[in-house]
Amino acid sequence: MIRRLVESDINQVLSLTQSIQGPGFHWPESLLREECRMHDVYGSFHEEQLMAFVVVAHRGWVSELTVLASRKGAHGKGWMKGLLCEVLEKFVQGGEVWLEVHEGNLAAIKLYEGLKFQLVGRRPRYYSDGADALQYTLFSKGSVVN
Ligand SMILES: CC(C)(COP(=O)(O)OP(=O)(O)OC[C@H]1O[C@@H](n2cnc3c(N)ncnc32)[C@H](O)[C@@H]1OP(=O)(O)O)[C@@H](O)C(=O)NCCC(=O)NCCS
Repeated sequence: MIRRLVESDINQVLSLTQSIQGPGFHWPESLLREECRMHDVYGSFHEEQLMAFVVVAHRGWVSELTVLASRKGAHGKGWMKGLLCEVLEKFVQGGEVWLEVHEGNLAAIKLYEGLKFQLVGRRPRYYSDGADALQYTLFSKGSVVN
């Protein structure tokens, strides 16, 4: 089941992210709480357990995917692809969708490119380990959901 998360879901978000922190995914609890408070968060559940979530910041004609992650131990099972396809189709209106990713995060890069996000830029040495951030844009949602 996919739905918009509410305040009482935050503990599941925090617990999911605890085990996947690293150079390409560095979200301390206070920052993550604030991000979820400020923006819309959507999640995919299996028997009440949060399997994947995405934070969507709506900024006018652009929507930005600021944080997304799947439960460790359930990677590669389609949770994130299913979530993103449904969220982009139902909850993101028109315009472009932006995101950034650590250049070494090959699983995420394959996911985005598979959904037809296009590489549009690079922020040199953006991450604490000196890696670049790759900037991706989805220009047409239709290419994902059709
Ligand atoms: C990146 C991440 C969100 C992918 O979530 P997931 O639920 O495992 O992804 P899915 O199972 O839905 O896979 C979707 C696509 O991603 C790609 N992918 C996922 N895991 C992969 C892996 N280990 N290696 C290569 N490609 C992979 C594939 O293209 C896959 O599509 P396919 O199965 O049709 O080939 C997950 O690995 C994760 O939570 N990583 C830690 C947090 C993170 O890096 N977040 C992104 C920050 S930008």
